[in-house]
Amino acid sequence: MTQPHDAWNAAEYARHARFVADLGADLIDVLAPRPGERILDLGCGDGALALKLAARGCEVVGVDSSPSMVAAAAAQGIDARHMDAVALTFDREFDAVFTNAVLHWVPDHDAVMAGVARALRHGGRFAGEFGGYGNIAAIRVALHAVLARHAVDAAAIDPWTYPTPEGFAAILERHGFTVDRIQLFPRPTPLPTGMSGWLDTFALRFFQPFEEPERDAVKREVEELLACSLRDAGGRWTADYVRLRFHATCR
Ligand code: BEZ
Repeated sequence: MTQPHDAWNAAEYARHARFVADLGADLIDVLAPRPGERILDLGCGDGALALKLAARGCEVVGVDSSPSMVAAAAAQGIDARHMDAVALTFDREFDAVFTNAVLHWVPDHDAVMAGVARALRHGGRFAGEFGGYGNIAAIRVALHAVLARHAVDAAAIDPWTYPTPEGFAAILERHGFTVDRIQLFPRPTPLPTGMSGWLDTFALRFFQPFEEPERDAVKREVEELLACSLRDAGGRWTADYVRLRFHATCR
């Protein structure tokens, strides 16, 4: 949802990161949507999972902070709106909120939960998945280490927030949710366009302090540092994803 917001390009995202929606598809069963329910897809991206919710007979509204993604979802027939996750404007109108691979881009989880709680009817469900504690640990360390070699403080650029289950459950409860299930689990994820494609899609901001040709050289340094742990003998890359998956009910 939130790179430098409009760094997202829906066509490039589909090429490098279709696996994000594919791997999130079984999250729909965690939500267990019923036909006729009105569901908010928080961070709908290009609408891939919103379409699956609609195919189950739900009335879906998608929101995303990227105009490019909103346009791509709208082109698929989704009621997609441009809205930031920390400034949701809905009031007691949804039976459920669904979110996949978005919350790690949003540092202020309290602001998100306040808006989600307000958007739900009494007894509404909130089901989601995102990067949890330890997510992309190797990738993150490599980015920070290589930028430090070039005298750039990656901590000032790093956009990601990966809470523990205990920490995230506490935020949900603070906003009036009962946590039904919450689970942290590893999900090593093959990268269809390699580490280069992943860095170009998700980590552009780490390379923005550099001009070409240094930018490309810095990116290659990151890939070299990661190769020993994330690239196999056949040259295939796997990202060290760790997911936090939850289901909560609005009290
Ligand atoms: C993730 O889905 O875990 C993720 C995606 C992009 C950047 C960082 C993490």
